[in-house]
Amino acid sequence: MSLYAIGDLHLHFQSELKARNQIEDKVWQNHELIFKENCCSLMTDEDTLVLVGDHSWGKNLTECKKDLEYIIALPGRKILLRGNHDMFWDAKKTNQLNNAFDGKLLFLQNNYYSYEDYALVGTKGYTFEGPFYVDRYGNIQGWDEKEAEHAEKLVKRESERLVSSFEAAKADGYKKFIMFLHYPPTNILQTNSIFTKIAEQYGVEQVVYGHCHGQSRFHDSIVGKKRRIRYSLVSGDFLRWMPQMIIK
Ligand SMILES: [Fe+2]
Ligand SMILES: [Fe+2]
Repeated sequence: MSLYAIGDLHLHFQSELKARNQIEDKVWQNHELIFKENCCSLMTDEDTLVLVGDHSWGKNLTECKKDLEYIIALPGRKILLRGNHDMFWDAKKTNQLNNAFDGKLLFLQNNYYSYEDYALVGTKGYTFEGPFYVDRYGNIQGWDEKEAEHAEKLVKRESERLVSSFEAAKADGYKKFIMFLHYPPTNILQTNSIFTKIAEQYGVEQVVYGHCHGQSRFHDSIVGKKRRIRYSLVSGDFLRWMPQMIIK
């Protein structure tokens, strides 16, 4: 029995594909076939797979039907986190999703799921991603203040959602945590954030996140060990569609 994670499948069985990287980059060619093969050779139904968001390009549940069916058919227990592209998922209606997909998929939002003696907690997260203004040498000289201000509000709301996930687990007696985010915990300007602080406060062992696509973005945030916490980027193209083992 093992715990695995990956993110950003960006499935499009029913949606028109407009994302240029998914049309042009080799790593995305037939990625749904490669990923399914990898899951089937790596995992069994005893395992748990956390999918850290951006599951589908569909704009609503009807447009996501085949994408979610594809995920349901993967081996193991599947826990889903909300990504910025998951339009089918209203954060306030997560209970409805959990009821509709009972026994098939688990949706992580303001709740938690257990894995052995760990609580798996998480939320979408958020971090300011620009626009940044750079000089001719590529050094950042400033950024859009209005956008940064707006981002602060989203960061605050997401940090509150994250705390409610931790508190739900704590109330049930959990002391060991693995924390999942869709957005990276920090942006290119930060070395820490409210999300890294929360991770440290609750003594999490690992922070797992996605969202960063393409070689130029794989090092946007923390990767590896920092202050006794292991940070892992698990976006699908970074992992080349092989789920990452989080706990053996
Ligand atoms: Fe993504
Ligand atoms: Fe994303």
